[in-house]
Amino acid sequence: MLVLGIETSCDETGIALYDSDQGLLAHALHSQVALHADYGGVVPELASRDHIRRVLPLTREVLGRAGKKPAELDAVAYTAGPGLAGALLVGAGIGASLAYALDIPAIGIHHLEGHLLSPLLTHPAPPFPFIALLVSGGHTQLMRVGGVGDYSLLGETLDDAAGEAFDKSAKLLGLSYPGGPAIAELAASGRCGRFTLPRPMLRSNSLDFSFSGLKTAVLTAVRSLPPDAQARADLAAELQAAIVDVLVGKSVAALEQTAIPRLVVAGGVGANRVLRAQLTAAAQRLGCTVFYPPFEFCTDNGAMIAFAGALRLQHGAKHGASSGFAVRPRWELASLEKA
Ligand code: KG4
Ligand code: ZN
Repeated sequence: MLVLGIETSCDETGIALYDSDQGLLAHALHSQVALHADYGGVVPELASRDHIRRVLPLTREVLGRAGKKPAELDAVAYTAGPGLAGALLVGAGIGASLAYALDIPAIGIHHLEGHLLSPLLTHPAPPFPFIALLVSGGHTQLMRVGGVGDYSLLGETLDDAAGEAFDKSAKLLGLSYPGGPAIAELAASGRCGRFTLPRPMLRSNSLDFSFSGLKTAVLTAVRSLPPDAQARADLAAELQAAIVDVLVGKSVAALEQTAIPRLVVAGGVGANRVLRAQLTAAAQRLGCTVFYPPFEFCTDNGAMIAFAGALRLQHGAKHGASSGFAVRPRWELASLEKA
């Protein structure tokens, strides 16, 4: 089964071709980071217009690289939500039209389901059930994943997402968007311990998170920051350590509470190397295994959407979680039906 995946939920146009027998055949990505850089964040209207320019050329490129023709497609999977409404409508509109013209199913995929299942693109893939730590610019969730579509929420952020904490703090430090990679780069030459930042809710009993206080603490520190470059690097290192400590602490608690020995990390913040190193070490101490998608599939991409679409179709979904042209800018992952 050959599935075209279209991801346009935010500021990346991702297109991919996934074959259920041969795996990922080709994928292409256009990042809008430069387009939004001057604004310090994603401008929805500019994002939509750029997706319109990119989807078809990238689709042609991916088909060409895989040596496939549109007529060979068995289905089109597009991100139906959550995300920016206008941006989602571009992928949904083009995806549904293409599928209609080819008389094949169009399947609307939940963006976070794409992230969640992306570690299954690697070998060895984690067997179900597993715990998933979803950490992106818009979401921070711990889920129990029993199978495709079998997702129960264990905990989530009560305010800002982990990626948002990186992005907002980066802005306060005068760094470019997206803030996560910029903070990580600056933190590499910094030392922890010079600044004191909170580890919000680390000691609470719940598996929920809260990151908005961290941003306020960074603001306070920035206001009285010594003028040396080392101070900025030290603050970046402390911020990264604070976010990582909380993510690792809650993930460990989830593994212990559920007695499930497998953790999957998904979403853009999952690209953070310090997070990866500390999660792996903490899981090893518990006798658990951590699975990561390859770096290129941590942030938004078309491969995870094509892959999730193929899995859904293999499990009998005719038109997917959201049929036709519908998009859902807000959409709870736990509300998805089992495949
Ligand atoms: O999953 P994603 O590409 O888009 C959303 O669906 O949100 O995640 C983007 C988020 C941004 O907040 C970005 O700053 C963060 O992931 N991010 C990182 C790193 N790479 C991307 N955060 C920390 N360290 C990184 N290396
Ligand atoms: Zn994402």
